[in-house]
Amino acid sequence: MTITPSPSIYEIAAGIHRISIPVPPEMIPGGFSFNQYLVVDEQPLLFHTGPKKMFALVREQIEKVLPVSRLRYIAFSHVEADECGGLADFLAAAPEARPVCSEVAAMVSIRDLVDVEPIAMADGQTLDLGQHKLVWQSTPHLPHGWECGYFFDATTKTLFCGDLFTQPGTGEQPLVSADILACSEAFRHQMDYFSHTRNAPALIEKLAQLQPERLACMHGSAWSGDGAALLRKLGQSLAL
Ligand SMILES: [Fe+2]
Ligand SMILES: [Fe+2]
Repeated sequence: MTITPSPSIYEIAAGIHRISIPVPPEMIPGGFSFNQYLVVDEQPLLFHTGPKKMFALVREQIEKVLPVSRLRYIAFSHVEADECGGLADFLAAAPEARPVCSEVAAMVSIRDLVDVEPIAMADGQTLDLGQHKLVWQSTPHLPHGWECGYFFDATTKTLFCGDLFTQPGTGEQPLVSADILACSEAFRHQMDYFSHTRNAPALIEKLAQLQPERLACMHGSAWSGDGAALLRKLGQSLAL
């Protein structure tokens, strides 16, 4: 008998909680996971909302740690359902929260999709949550979306790396230090979700120079280790 894993929440770094919503193999072949990251601080932030249809599941996990109404920032990497499908629902549940996204995402999509004015982040701009200082990293088209970007938390050296290092499976393990590149690259070859931008090497190097020690992946386990080395290995693999 297969046991379907349940939604879960786990602290992967000081104040940073990985919320994982697994999808069983009966729904997506091989199983899959959608992760959101809750940063608990004076100004709490959620990175990725999850799809709209998972809103209730994500909210339930957040409520284990803090009332959802305390959220002040709803941030995401790029405009897709799993990144920001629940944005309007979260803004309704957290009336003092603002969307946080790249300048391009704000200009092209978010000012139209929701009624709350987004905070449009420029490359290198810092969002101060209290303990955690999040620095925006613009990465157009890496892996996809003109508006794509990430946050780097300089406090815990965590890179919220969105769809980079996407792993198949239901992601039961919240934080691993074993290799995630091989399975992620095998998945990329199946699904071809990278944009093939010629700027990938420079963007990967920009992220590597942050020297992250944790990668907060959107799909699969979060990862701990020498993030610069792993990013450069990804860069080499993309160049093949
Ligand atoms: Fe994506
Ligand atoms: Fe995604």
